[in-house]
Amino acid sequence: MRTLAHISDLHFGRIDPRVVEGLLADLMAHRPDLVIISGDLVQRARRSMFREARAFLERLPFPYLVVPGNHDIPVFNVVRRFLLDPFRYYKRYISRDLSPLHVDSEIAVLGLNTARSVILDFSHGRINRAQIARIREVFDDLPPHVFKIVFTHHPFLPPPDAPWTRLVDRHKLALPALEACGVDLLLAGHLHRAYSGELATFHTQVARSILVAQASTATSTRLRNEANAYNIITVAMPELTLEVRSWTGEAFGRGPLSTYRKDGHRWLLQERDIGEFAPTDTTA
Ligand SMILES: [Fe+2]
Ligand SMILES: [Fe+2]
Repeated sequence: MRTLAHISDLHFGRIDPRVVEGLLADLMAHRPDLVIISGDLVQRARRSMFREARAFLERLPFPYLVVPGNHDIPVFNVVRRFLLDPFRYYKRYISRDLSPLHVDSEIAVLGLNTARSVILDFSHGRINRAQIARIREVFDDLPPHVFKIVFTHHPFLPPPDAPWTRLVDRHKLALPALEACGVDLLLAGHLHRAYSGELATFHTQVARSILVAQASTATSTRLRNEANAYNIITVAMPELTLEVRSWTGEAFGRGPLSTYRKDGHRWLLQERDIGEFAPTDTTA
């Protein structure tokens, strides 16, 4: 069994310090085997903000994997953005590895950097052919019982109530690779909204059952009509539970919880509980 915490969009530089402390306390209570951080660690890619994010990571007593988000690239500092490496501060303060990987006997987790420094298009993300090749390289030879996760900052699945939402560019190129090598779960953030579902409900060309979980912003005040939240994912093959931990105003509490069971190649939803604290409860 593995317990994973999926946190996203921390946005140091624009955080609520009480929520940061609440997040650390809740993580301590759950003692995850691995923390997966899907980008936007800082608000404006300034050195001081990266230092704050670094200090947070230093306080995490658990292994973690992290990828950058669009906010981790400088927007206004043109020299840093186009002449120097746009990930310079990220690499210095957060991680030099932009494609982190964890593999053990039960799970394999691969992070891909979808943040791009593109003129007029900096907030959108893209996946490229080399990254798609990396998905194949990492997962192709793993045994079928290993639970396989890919995480990115930009999403592969839109919110159920906003199907027009822009997804990570070139996602259609990546879908066949995700299917072929048996990826079970995609994790992402960027939209500051918590939802989950099956990839094939939107991408009808996908025949394989691939689950998707999006995390809200864990700690920032940049809310989209939802409370701060993060995901606790428990993998005990053939079962998976996905629990949204939602900020109640004082602590993180139990939000929606979904239980899935794998039957052959299909993930079947067993139960969905709306929880005590829906992510939309506490904000306006
Ligand atoms: Fe964000
Ligand atoms: Fe973002």
